[in-house]
Amino acid sequence: MSRPNDLIRAASARLSDSGVESPEYDAAELLAHALGTTRSRLPLVDEVGAEQRAGFEELVVRRATREPLQHLTGSAAFRHVELQVGPGVFLPRPETELLAGWAIERAVAAGPGAVVVDLCCGSGAIALSVADEAPRAEVHAVELDPSAHAWAERNLAATGVDLQLGDMADAFPELDSGVDVVVCNPPYIPLEAWASVAPEARDHDPALALWSGDDGLDAIRVLESTAARLLRPGGWVGTEHADAQGESAAQVFVESGRWTEVRDHPDLAGRARYLTARLAR
Ligand SMILES: C[S@@+](CC[C@H](N)C(=O)[O-])C[C@H]1O[C@@H](n2cnc3c(N)ncnc32)[C@H](O)[C@@H]1O
Repeated sequence: MSRPNDLIRAASARLSDSGVESPEYDAAELLAHALGTTRSRLPLVDEVGAEQRAGFEELVVRRATREPLQHLTGSAAFRHVELQVGPGVFLPRPETELLAGWAIERAVAAGPGAVVVDLCCGSGAIALSVADEAPRAEVHAVELDPSAHAWAERNLAATGVDLQLGDMADAFPELDSGVDVVVCNPPYIPLEAWASVAPEARDHDPALALWSGDDGLDAIRVLESTAARLLRPGGWVGTEHADAQGESAAQVFVESGRWTEVRDHPDLAGRARYLTARLAR
C-alpha cells in the first residue's frame, strides 16, 4: 500500500525530468484517473492498493514519453463542458476558451435563433460551448478530417448541433448571407516552426489541425472568404491565430476590403490570440 502524496511526489519528479510543463498537476490527474475519482477528491484517499499503483505507474511512464495527458484520461475540460478526446483529434486548448466566450457573447447579443457556425470544429469544443451557454442559438459545425469528425459526432450527439463532414471552403451553402456569427480555430502554424512545437502537439495532434502553409495563414485566408459568404451584412467573424500573427492575420481581413471593426484580442498571458471583424453592410 502507498500514500497518494508519496506517489504524486515521485511521479511529479519523473515527469519534470521528462520536460512535462505541469508535472504535479498531471501526476495528480493521472492518480485520480487510475483510482476512478477526481483530483479534488484525492485528499479523501488514505492508501493506494498494489493493482491501482501499477496502473498509475503505467500511465506515468506513458506521460513521461510526452503522450498528452488528455489522451491518457480520455477527456478534456473546455469552459463548462467535458469532451471525449483521444488519438485522431486536436485537443482543445484553454486559450481557445476566450474565443468561444466571444462567440457566445455575440450569439446572445444577436438574440434568440441566432445562427452560429463553427468552422474547423475538431472535437466540437467551440460548438458544444455555444450550444451549452447560448441554448437559443442555432449552431452548425463542420470538420474536414473524418477521424476528428467521428470524435465531434460523439461530443455533439443529442445537442441539436448540425454537424457536417467537409471542407469549410464550401460548407453550408444553404446558410449563405444568413449567419450571425462565424467562429473558427483553424490550423495556423507555419511549416517552418516544426522544431519549436511541443512534442505533445507535434507527435499527437493530427497534422491537418496544426500546419497551414509557409506563413501559417492559408486556412485563415480560406476562412476570410468563407465567412464573407456565410455572414449577413453586419455579422461577426472571430478566428484564433498564432501569437506572432496579430498583424498578419488582421491584414488578411483589412486587405480584402470586406470588413469593418477588425480588432485583435490578447490571451490571458497578454499574447495576441484572436481576431474579430464585422462584415461591412
Ligand atoms: C486547430 S484545430 C481546432 C479544433 C477545434 N476547433 C478546437 O478549437 O479544439 C483545427 C481543425 O480544423 C480542421 N480543418 C483543417 N482544415 C479544414 C478545412 N479546410 N475545413 C474544415 N476543417 C478543417 C482540422 O482537421 C482540425 O480538426
